[in-house]
Amino acid sequence: MGEGSDLNAKQNNDIIDSIFNNTLSKSNIFKDRNVLRNEYIPDNIQFRNAQMTSIAQITAPLLIGHKPSNILLYGKTGTGKTVVTKFVLKRLQERASNVGNQLDFAYVNARNASTEYRILVELASTLNIQLPFTGLSISEAFSRILQTIKEKKRMVVFTIDEIDFLVRNFEANILYELTRANENLPAPSFISLIGISNDLQFKEALDPRTLSSLNEEEIVFTPYTVEELQQILTQRAKLAFNENAINQSAINLCAALAGAEHGDARRAVDLLRVAAELAEREGASIIEDVHVRSATKSIEQDRVFEATRSLPLHAKIVLYTISRANEWPSTGSIYSQYSQFCKRLGIEQLTQRRISSILNELDTFGLISAPVISQGRLGRSKKIHLIALVDTVIAGLKEDNVIRQIIN
Ligand SMILES: Nc1ncnc2c1ncn2[C@@H]1O[C@H](COP(=O)(O)OP(=O)(O)OP(=O)(O)O)[C@@H](O)[C@H]1O
Ligand SMILES: [Mg+2]
Repeated sequence: MGEGSDLNAKQNNDIIDSIFNNTLSKSNIFKDRNVLRNEYIPDNIQFRNAQMTSIAQITAPLLIGHKPSNILLYGKTGTGKTVVTKFVLKRLQERASNVGNQLDFAYVNARNASTEYRILVELASTLNIQLPFTGLSISEAFSRILQTIKEKKRMVVFTIDEIDFLVRNFEANILYELTRANENLPAPSFISLIGISNDLQFKEALDPRTLSSLNEEEIVFTPYTVEELQQILTQRAKLAFNENAINQSAINLCAALAGAEHGDARRAVDLLRVAAELAEREGASIIEDVHVRSATKSIEQDRVFEATRSLPLHAKIVLYTISRANEWPSTGSIYSQYSQFCKRLGIEQLTQRRISSILNELDTFGLISAPVISQGRLGRSKKIHLIALVDTVIAGLKEDNVIRQIIN
């Protein structure tokens, strides 16, 4: 090793040290980063009084040991369903323990839990029942839970967030079981359910009995207006940032961008956080519009990267085919190129029909655009092109060992 590499090593260390030093030295921007995290529950939730009142009214009987109606909460993403529910239930839990009423609150996010069994494991652990991580059938796990509830006379409030995931992926058998459980539970024990969903169509997929039991009460969350988003962000910015570290115009821009499609507070808070991080990284002392604009790009890139990375294999091959095409190819020419890649990889190709539906999915994810264009006497065909940034798509594809073999 020569002198050059020593120098190089020193430079590396200097760079790394200076990054760490920056983080350790007091931030120009942040007073408290935690308040911008997704799990953070604000002390003051604005514009949701109606929903909070309803949840409080419906669940209040719990305080005197009565089973409340099951509740279904729904509304588009980022409308405050999770945060409002957690806020009210936390208060309820405090009051219940003040008056010496023992309630069990279980919360699970169906998407994170990802299997029906894991959802039951969550419920069981709230009740101090140890279920093995694998090995039991769903019905065995379920009957152990019910047995304990019965024997120990437990009163359980079970919140299932993103409940639509259950219906989409497992036919919701445990949902059926859960809604029926009370038939076999003698007083005072019960399971009361709170379901949260941002997908309305999931109701159509439920069998009528489960549905009518689950939505004994229904609470709707409407999207925020841009003005409401502004106020939510202003309040959050006061907690998150040093005084004068953000100008009002940057806040308004976050609100406007997050309200463009539907008033999505998650997107608004994400924009604020990423803009602040970008400002801090470049050593700025004020978050301005430029940082918000860069934040939208950076969030979009993350989204494209994640969406690409988690596609099934054949969708990845199709996407790669599209990313290499020069003009706007038709479905037919995508298909023949795709088939060649399959051959090279030694895997069996799907039918053209399946590829058509993959193209629709990629379109829905916003990765490609595939409008149908009339070609006069030749009929109609799709003209396909990539709309996501090609570099980001390729980066996402390269995460896959199989696809990496055909890239380059
Ligand atoms: N009224 C509000 N006041 C303050 N912050 C809010 C309000 N509504 C939502 N937020 C914030 O916006 C973000 C998204 O809210 P939340 O997670 O409750 O959305 P959601 O309706 O559950 O969305 P999804 O359906 O995608 O899960 C959170 O960071 C939350 O703290
Ligand atoms: Mg939520």
